[in-house]
Amino acid sequence: FGRPYRYLGHTTSTQDVLRQWAEDGAPEGAVVLAERQSAGRGRMGRPWISTPGSSLTFSLLLRPRSPIALLPLAVGVALREAVGLGGLKWPNDLLAPDGRKLAGILVEARVGTSSPGLVILGIGLNVRPPVPPGAAALSEFGPVNRAELLARLLEELENQYENLSKPERILEDWKKYSVTLGQEVTVKTPRGELRGRALDLAEDGALVVESQGATERIAAGDVSLIGR
Ligand code: BTN
Repeated sequence: FGRPYRYLGHTTSTQDVLRQWAEDGAPEGAVVLAERQSAGRGRMGRPWISTPGSSLTFSLLLRPRSPIALLPLAVGVALREAVGLGGLKWPNDLLAPDGRKLAGILVEARVGTSSPGLVILGIGLNVRPPVPPGAAALSEFGPVNRAELLARLLEELENQYENLSKPERILEDWKKYSVTLGQEVTVKTPRGELRGRALDLAEDGALVVESQGATERIAAGDVSLIGR
């Protein structure tokens, strides 16, 4: 991954630049990295603010041929492996040991019907301060070389992408890095909010939450850890 590669000083969102490039025929593995985005976006319709020069802000093109239900978790595992510290909040936020957010992942997919599927994977990783309020920078925990980190991350992403054919492996690795399972959580989903205890991952990567005596499977949502 990382070939071909485009480096931009300033853009709207690397997601949009890469989507256009994909439509113009960019191959799997293509990467667009930017120093500064004027319209960076995060999960659940939120904006994504990253400080110029102090983050790794990029998008990676995938053209998956197999099911991608576990892709968001696999990307979280790759991020954790490359960074070497922190824990994963479901589905794929990387949190520093003290719970502040180090990185976020955005998976934008167009699922193939007749044409093959297309995934634009966006990663925003805070490398150095200043960072948005409540977030953490990797450099607070030790020296970081941005170029080396990017190379390692692309390599881990490639490893985990291959692991999509071994779903048990992805679930097991994700659980190893989880700071979510066993915790009291509130979950905002497109259908409303619930509070309970995160119990497990389902085989499809959904979060299993016990709430008011019932077991719910959350396919998409935003988790807050209570008491952290
Ligand atoms: C989240 O935690 O909500 C996900 C954040 C994803 C941000 C990255 S930065 C590179 C790519 N371009 C964007 O506009 N968003 C993603």
